[in-house]
Amino acid sequence: MKYAYASRTGNVESIISQLGLDALFIQTGDEVMNEPFILFTYTDGLGDVPMEVETFLTLNGTNLKGVIVSGDMGYGDAYCQAGDKIADEYGVECLYKVENAGEAGDIKAIEEILSHVQ
Ligand SMILES: Cc1cc2nc3c(=O)[nH]c(=O)nc-3n(C[C@H](O)[C@H](O)[C@H](O)COP(=O)(O)O)c2cc1C
Repeated sequence: MKYAYASRTGNVESIISQLGLDALFIQTGDEVMNEPFILFTYTDGLGDVPMEVETFLTLNGTNLKGVIVSGDMGYGDAYCQAGDKIADEYGVECLYKVENAGEAGDIKAIEEILSHVQ
């Protein structure tokens, strides 16, 4: 399984780094992913999918196998909604929601989930 991630202020990048994953960084959205992958993203606006992620998925969404999303509970109902929107649009599961950079328990939980996703 391949991994791709978007991170604006470093939280998702920190999660990727704690997981020790070799993942493609989505910077502009023009990046190419030709193999099945799990997406890690943050939530923007009010429950929005980040623009670079929208573009990336337009190009590569057929290979998407699942999404892990970061958000902040301060956004209330919009918490981690980017993950729900992507899951709906691409017919994949939102595998995990994590607040900001997460805690040790989140990293363990994500490791466990990833170990079952093929
Ligand atoms: C402008 C802005 C809008 C945000 N909107 C939401 C939101 O609607 N829902 C949510 O759960 N988190 C929201 N967040 C929180 C981020 O998704 C969260 O802090 C995430 O961990 C950031 O990841 P990053 O540091 O990798 O960029 C927002 C953050 C910013 C700066």
